[in-house]
Amino acid sequence: MGTSCSDFDLKKYLPEKTIVINIALNKYLQEQYPPLLYKAMRYSIFAGGKRLRPFLVLEGARVCGGDEKKVMPTACALEYIHTYSLIHDDLPAMDNDDYRRGRLTSHKKFGEDVAILAGDALLTEAFGLLAANAAVKGIKIEQVLNVITLVSGCAGGPGMIGGQLIDTRQSSDSSQEKISAKKQALTYIHNHKTVALIKASLLAGAILAKASSRQLKALTVYAEKIGLSFQIMDDVLDVIGNKKKLGKTGSDRQNKKLTYVSLYGLEWSQKEAAQLIAEAKKAITTFGRKKYILAALADYIVEREY
Ligand code: IPE
Ligand code: IPE
Ligand code: MG
Ligand code: MG
Ligand code: MG
Repeated sequence: MGTSCSDFDLKKYLPEKTIVINIALNKYLQEQYPPLLYKAMRYSIFAGGKRLRPFLVLEGARVCGGDEKKVMPTACALEYIHTYSLIHDDLPAMDNDDYRRGRLTSHKKFGEDVAILAGDALLTEAFGLLAANAAVKGIKIEQVLNVITLVSGCAGGPGMIGGQLIDTRQSSDSSQEKISAKKQALTYIHNHKTVALIKASLLAGAILAKASSRQLKALTVYAEKIGLSFQIMDDVLDVIGNKKKLGKTGSDRQNKKLTYVSLYGLEWSQKEAAQLIAEAKKAITTFGRKKYILAALADYIVEREY
Protein backbone atom coordinates (compact mmCIF):
# COMPACT_ATOMS: atom_id res chain seq x y z
CA MET A 1 0.00 0.00 0.00
CA GLY A 2 1.23 3.49 -0.86
CA THR A 3 3.42 4.75 1.93
CA SER A 4 5.03 7.66 0.14
CA CYS A 5 3.73 11.04 1.22
CA SER A 6 3.56 12.83 -2.12
CA ASP A 7 0.77 10.76 -3.69
CA PHE A 8 -1.08 9.98 -0.46
CA ASP A 9 -4.87 10.13 -0.65
CA LEU A 10 -6.63 9.60 2.68
CA LYS A 11 -9.98 9.25 0.90
CA LYS A 12 -8.64 6.08 -0.72
CA TYR A 13 -6.58 4.90 2.25
CA LEU A 14 -9.39 4.96 4.84
CA PRO A 15 -11.83 2.73 2.91
CA GLU A 16 -9.00 0.28 2.19
CA LYS A 17 -8.14 0.07 5.89
CA THR A 18 -11.82 -0.19 6.79
CA ILE A 19 -12.08 -3.37 4.71
CA VAL A 20 -9.12 -4.92 6.57
CA ILE A 21 -10.56 -3.90 9.95
CA ASN A 22 -14.00 -5.27 9.04
CA ILE A 23 -12.52 -8.62 8.03
CA ALA A 24 -10.80 -8.85 11.43
CA LEU A 25 -13.97 -7.81 13.30
CA ASN A 26 -15.93 -10.46 11.42
CA LYS A 27 -13.37 -13.07 12.44
CA TYR A 28 -13.54 -12.15 16.14
CA LEU A 29 -17.28 -11.54 16.38
CA GLN A 30 -18.71 -14.79 15.07
CA GLU A 31 -22.36 -15.67 15.59
CA GLN A 32 -22.73 -18.06 18.50
CA TYR A 33 -25.09 -18.93 21.34
CA PRO A 34 -27.28 -17.13 22.30
CA PRO A 35 -28.01 -16.09 18.70
CA LEU A 36 -30.10 -13.04 19.68
CA LEU A 37 -27.22 -11.55 21.66
CA TYR A 38 -24.65 -12.00 18.90
CA LYS A 39 -27.12 -10.84 16.28
CA ALA A 40 -27.53 -7.58 18.19
CA MET A 41 -23.76 -7.19 18.73
CA ARG A 42 -23.07 -7.76 15.04
CA TYR A 43 -25.94 -5.48 14.00
CA SER A 44 -24.26 -2.49 15.66
CA ILE A 45 -20.65 -3.43 14.87
CA PHE A 46 -21.41 -3.89 11.16
CA ALA A 47 -23.68 -0.87 10.75
CA GLY A 48 -21.01 1.15 8.94
CA GLY A 49 -19.03 3.15 11.51
CA LYS A 50 -16.04 5.22 10.38
CA ARG A 51 -13.63 2.95 12.29
CA LEU A 52 -11.64 5.94 13.51
CA ARG A 53 -10.51 4.30 16.75
CA PRO A 54 -9.19 1.04 15.24
CA PHE A 55 -7.56 3.08 12.51
CA LEU A 56 -5.77 5.13 15.22
CA VAL A 57 -4.54 1.92 16.89
CA LEU A 58 -3.01 0.76 13.60
CA GLU A 59 -1.53 4.16 12.85
CA GLY A 60 -0.16 4.56 16.39
CA ALA A 61 1.77 1.34 15.84
CA ARG A 62 2.91 2.15 12.30
CA VAL A 63 4.17 5.63 13.04
CA CYS A 64 6.29 4.23 15.90
CA GLY A 65 7.89 1.62 13.65
CA GLY A 66 5.59 -1.29 14.53
CA ASP A 67 3.64 -3.71 12.36
CA GLU A 68 -0.06 -2.81 11.96
CA LYS A 69 -1.03 -6.46 11.49
CA LYS A 70 0.27 -7.30 14.97
CA VAL A 71 -2.08 -4.92 16.77
CA MET A 72 -5.32 -5.90 15.04
CA PRO A 73 -6.92 -7.58 18.11
CA THR A 74 -6.37 -4.34 20.05
CA ALA A 75 -7.75 -2.26 17.16
CA CYS A 76 -10.92 -4.38 17.15
CA ALA A 77 -11.20 -4.16 20.95
CA LEU A 78 -11.30 -0.36 20.75
CA GLU A 79 -14.08 -0.56 18.15
CA TYR A 80 -16.02 -2.95 20.44
CA ILE A 81 -15.78 -0.43 23.29
CA HIS A 82 -16.72 2.49 21.05
CA THR A 83 -19.71 0.62 19.60
CA TYR A 84 -20.93 -0.43 23.05
CA SER A 85 -20.70 3.22 24.15
CA LEU A 86 -22.91 4.24 21.22
CA ILE A 87 -25.52 1.56 21.96
CA HIS A 88 -25.80 2.73 25.57
CA ASP A 89 -25.56 6.44 24.63
CA ASP A 90 -28.67 6.03 22.43
CA LEU A 91 -30.83 4.39 25.12
CA PRO A 92 -33.99 6.20 26.30
CA ALA A 93 -32.35 6.88 29.69
CA MET A 94 -29.45 8.59 27.91
CA ASP A 95 -29.90 10.49 24.60
CA ASN A 96 -33.01 8.60 23.52
CA ASP A 97 -32.09 8.38 19.84
CA ASP A 98 -33.84 6.27 17.20
CA TYR A 99 -31.17 6.21 14.50
CA ARG A 100 -27.47 5.40 14.53
CA ARG A 101 -25.12 4.69 11.64
CA GLY A 102 -28.07 4.98 9.29
CA ARG A 103 -30.12 2.27 10.98
CA LEU A 104 -32.56 1.97 13.85
CA THR A 105 -30.70 2.11 17.16
CA SER A 106 -30.11 -1.18 18.94
CA HIS A 107 -32.91 -0.72 21.48
CA LYS A 108 -35.38 0.27 18.73
CA LYS A 109 -34.51 -2.86 16.77
CA PHE A 110 -34.06 -5.41 19.57
CA GLY A 111 -35.59 -3.83 22.69
CA GLU A 112 -33.84 -2.17 25.62
CA ASP A 113 -33.01 -5.41 27.42
CA VAL A 114 -31.12 -6.86 24.46
CA ALA A 115 -29.43 -3.52 23.64
CA ILE A 116 -28.09 -3.14 27.18
CA LEU A 117 -26.80 -6.69 27.17
CA ALA A 118 -25.26 -6.40 23.68
CA GLY A 119 -23.35 -3.35 24.96
CA ASP A 120 -22.30 -5.22 28.11
CA ALA A 121 -21.00 -8.14 26.06
CA LEU A 122 -19.05 -5.91 23.66
CA LEU A 123 -17.37 -4.10 26.53
CA THR A 124 -16.50 -7.30 28.36
CA GLU A 125 -15.24 -9.17 25.30
CA ALA A 126 -13.12 -6.17 24.33
CA PHE A 127 -10.85 -6.91 27.28
CA GLY A 128 -10.55 -10.52 26.10
CA LEU A 129 -9.37 -9.21 22.74
CA LEU A 130 -6.85 -6.85 24.37
CA ALA A 131 -5.44 -9.82 26.29
CA ALA A 132 -5.45 -11.98 23.16
CA ASN A 133 -2.98 -9.59 21.55
CA ALA A 134 -0.33 -11.11 23.87
CA ALA A 135 -0.41 -14.28 21.74
CA VAL A 136 0.90 -12.41 18.69
CA LYS A 137 4.59 -13.03 17.99
CA GLY A 138 6.77 -10.08 18.90
CA ILE A 139 4.25 -8.54 21.31
CA LYS A 140 5.40 -8.53 24.94
CA ILE A 141 3.01 -9.37 27.80
CA GLU A 142 4.22 -6.34 29.72
CA GLN A 143 3.11 -4.04 26.89
CA VAL A 144 -0.28 -5.75 26.71
CA LEU A 145 -0.73 -5.21 30.45
CA ASN A 146 0.11 -1.54 30.01
CA VAL A 147 -2.51 -1.28 27.25
CA ILE A 148 -5.17 -3.01 29.37
CA THR A 149 -4.51 -0.61 32.26
CA LEU A 150 -4.62 2.38 29.91
CA VAL A 151 -7.84 1.33 28.15
CA SER A 152 -9.55 0.44 31.43
CA GLY A 153 -8.95 3.95 32.77
CA CYS A 154 -9.84 5.74 29.55
CA ALA A 155 -13.06 3.76 29.03
CA GLY A 156 -14.13 3.68 32.70
CA GLY A 157 -15.02 6.20 35.38
CA PRO A 158 -11.81 8.24 35.11
CA GLY A 159 -12.44 8.48 31.35
CA MET A 160 -15.41 8.01 29.02
CA ILE A 161 -18.00 6.97 31.60
CA GLY A 162 -17.15 9.92 33.84
CA GLY A 163 -17.67 12.18 30.84
CA GLN A 164 -20.97 10.53 29.97
CA LEU A 165 -22.19 10.95 33.57
CA ILE A 166 -21.46 14.68 33.68
CA ASP A 167 -22.98 14.97 30.18
CA THR A 168 -26.28 13.70 31.59
CA ARG A 169 -26.17 16.22 34.46
CA GLN A 170 -25.61 19.38 32.41
CA SER A 171 -28.17 21.41 30.56
CA SER A 172 -27.71 24.20 28.02
CA ASP A 173 -30.46 26.28 29.61
CA SER A 174 -29.52 26.14 33.29
CA SER A 175 -29.16 29.89 33.21
CA GLN A 176 -28.49 30.28 36.92
CA GLU A 177 -25.13 28.62 36.49
CA LYS A 178 -22.16 30.90 35.86
CA ILE A 179 -20.78 30.83 32.32
CA SER A 180 -17.31 30.00 33.64
CA ALA A 181 -18.70 26.93 35.45
CA LYS A 182 -20.42 25.81 32.25
CA LYS A 183 -17.21 26.19 30.27
CA GLN A 184 -15.37 24.10 32.82
CA ALA A 185 -18.05 21.40 32.75
CA LEU A 186 -18.05 21.29 28.95
CA THR A 187 -14.28 20.89 28.82
CA TYR A 188 -14.51 18.01 31.30
CA ILE A 189 -17.34 16.36 29.33
CA HIS A 190 -15.60 16.46 25.95
CA ASN A 191 -12.19 15.50 27.24
CA HIS A 192 -13.65 12.48 28.97
CA LYS A 193 -16.58 11.21 26.91
CA THR A 194 -14.68 11.41 23.60
CA VAL A 195 -11.02 12.42 23.88
CA ALA A 196 -10.16 9.66 26.38
CA LEU A 197 -10.97 6.76 24.02
CA ILE A 198 -9.36 8.45 21.01
CA LYS A 199 -6.19 8.95 23.06
CA ALA A 200 -6.28 5.37 24.34
CA SER A 201 -6.54 4.10 20.75
CA LEU A 202 -3.50 5.94 19.45
CA LEU A 203 -1.39 5.22 22.53
CA ALA A 204 -2.37 1.53 22.64
CA GLY A 205 -0.95 0.99 19.15
CA ALA A 206 2.14 3.00 20.04
CA ILE A 207 2.76 1.09 23.30
CA LEU A 208 2.50 -2.27 21.53
CA ALA A 209 5.05 -0.97 19.01
CA LYS A 210 7.44 -0.14 21.87
CA ALA A 211 7.20 3.62 21.39
CA SER A 212 9.73 5.87 23.09
CA SER A 213 8.54 8.30 25.77
CA ARG A 214 9.17 11.15 23.33
CA GLN A 215 6.90 9.49 20.76
CA LEU A 216 4.21 8.83 23.38
CA LYS A 217 4.34 12.45 24.49
CA ALA A 218 3.89 13.74 20.94
CA LEU A 219 1.02 11.34 20.27
CA THR A 220 -0.67 12.33 23.53
CA VAL A 221 -0.72 16.01 22.55
CA TYR A 222 -1.86 15.16 19.01
CA ALA A 223 -4.66 12.87 20.30
CA GLU A 224 -5.90 15.44 22.80
CA LYS A 225 -6.15 18.08 20.08
CA ILE A 226 -7.79 15.94 17.39
CA GLY A 227 -10.05 14.31 19.99
CA LEU A 228 -11.44 17.62 21.20
CA SER A 229 -11.72 18.88 17.64
CA PHE A 230 -13.60 15.68 16.75
CA GLN A 231 -16.22 16.20 19.47
CA ILE A 232 -16.58 19.91 18.65
CA MET A 233 -17.30 18.89 15.04
CA ASP A 234 -19.73 16.24 16.31
CA ASP A 235 -21.58 19.06 18.11
CA VAL A 236 -21.45 21.23 14.97
CA LEU A 237 -22.69 18.44 12.69
CA ASP A 238 -25.52 17.72 15.13
CA VAL A 239 -26.87 21.14 14.10
CA ILE A 240 -25.78 21.67 10.50
CA GLY A 241 -25.01 18.15 9.25
CA ASN A 242 -27.01 16.26 6.66
CA LYS A 243 -29.00 13.74 8.72
CA LYS A 244 -28.89 11.12 5.99
CA LYS A 245 -25.13 11.33 5.65
CA LEU A 246 -24.70 11.44 9.44
CA GLY A 247 -26.90 8.38 9.94
CA LYS A 248 -28.28 9.96 13.13
CA THR A 249 -30.93 12.58 13.72
CA GLY A 250 -29.15 15.19 15.85
CA SER A 251 -30.84 15.38 19.24
CA ASP A 252 -28.66 17.85 21.18
CA ARG A 253 -31.09 20.77 20.97
CA GLN A 254 -34.08 18.69 21.89
CA ASN A 255 -32.18 17.20 24.83
CA LYS A 256 -30.94 20.68 25.84
CA LYS A 257 -27.39 19.38 25.80
CA LEU A 258 -24.48 21.50 26.86
CA THR A 259 -22.36 21.50 23.68
CA TYR A 260 -19.78 23.70 21.99
CA VAL A 261 -22.51 25.06 19.75
CA SER A 262 -24.94 25.83 22.59
CA LEU A 263 -22.23 27.57 24.63
CA TYR A 264 -19.99 29.24 22.02
CA GLY A 265 -22.09 29.31 18.84
CA LEU A 266 -21.48 27.68 15.45
CA GLU A 267 -18.90 30.02 14.02
CA TRP A 268 -16.62 30.13 17.05
CA SER A 269 -16.86 26.35 17.45
CA GLN A 270 -15.76 25.73 13.86
CA LYS A 271 -12.85 28.14 14.27
CA GLU A 272 -11.77 26.43 17.48
CA ALA A 273 -11.96 23.00 15.84
CA ALA A 274 -9.71 24.22 13.00
CA GLN A 275 -7.26 25.84 15.43
CA LEU A 276 -6.93 22.57 17.37
CA ILE A 277 -6.15 20.72 14.14
CA ALA A 278 -3.35 23.18 13.32
CA GLU A 279 -1.91 22.58 16.80
CA ALA A 280 -2.26 18.81 16.45
CA LYS A 281 -0.24 18.84 13.24
CA LYS A 282 2.52 20.83 14.92
CA ALA A 283 2.74 18.28 17.73
CA ILE A 284 3.85 15.42 15.44
CA THR A 285 6.94 16.92 13.82
CA THR A 286 9.05 14.40 15.73
CA PHE A 287 7.82 11.68 13.31
CA GLY A 288 9.40 13.41 10.31
CA ARG A 289 8.22 12.11 6.95
CA LYS A 290 6.19 9.37 8.64
CA LYS A 291 3.70 11.88 10.00
CA TYR A 292 1.83 12.39 6.71
CA ILE A 293 -1.02 9.99 7.47
CA LEU A 294 -1.66 11.52 10.91
CA ALA A 295 -1.51 14.99 9.35
CA ALA A 296 -4.06 14.04 6.67
CA LEU A 297 -6.25 12.42 9.31
CA ALA A 298 -6.20 15.61 11.39
CA ASP A 299 -7.46 17.62 8.39
CA TYR A 300 -10.17 15.05 7.76
CA ILE A 301 -11.56 15.55 11.30
CA VAL A 302 -12.70 19.08 10.48
CA GLU A 303 -13.53 18.46 6.82
CA ARG A 304 -15.75 15.45 7.44
CA GLU A 305 -19.48 15.56 6.75
CA TYR A 306 -20.36 12.58 8.96
C1 IPE B 1 -19.72 9.22 17.54
O1 IPE B 1 -18.50 8.68 17.13
C2 IPE B 1 -19.71 9.44 19.01
C3 IPE B 1 -18.67 10.35 19.48
C4 IPE B 1 -17.80 10.02 20.36
C5 IPE B 1 -18.63 11.69 18.95
P1 IPE B 1 -18.18 8.47 15.59
O2 IPE B 1 -18.55 9.70 14.82
O3 IPE B 1 -16.76 8.01 15.47
O4 IPE B 1 -19.18 7.32 15.20
P2 IPE B 1 -19.05 6.14 14.13
O5 IPE B 1 -18.20 5.08 14.75
O6 IPE B 1 -18.43 6.68 12.88
O7 IPE B 1 -20.46 5.69 13.92
C1 IPE C 1 -21.33 10.47 22.85
O1 IPE C 1 -21.45 11.81 22.54
C2 IPE C 1 -19.99 10.10 23.29
C3 IPE C 1 -19.96 8.68 23.69
C4 IPE C 1 -19.17 8.29 24.62
C5 IPE C 1 -20.82 7.68 23.07
P1 IPE C 1 -22.75 12.17 21.71
O2 IPE C 1 -23.97 11.76 22.46
O3 IPE C 1 -22.66 13.56 21.25
O4 IPE C 1 -22.56 11.18 20.45
P2 IPE C 1 -23.62 11.07 19.28
O5 IPE C 1 -23.80 12.44 18.70
O6 IPE C 1 -24.87 10.50 19.86
O7 IPE C 1 -22.96 10.14 18.29
MG1 MG D 1 -24.57 11.47 24.42
MG1 MG E 1 -25.72 10.76 21.66
MG1 MG F 1 -23.21 14.24 19.33
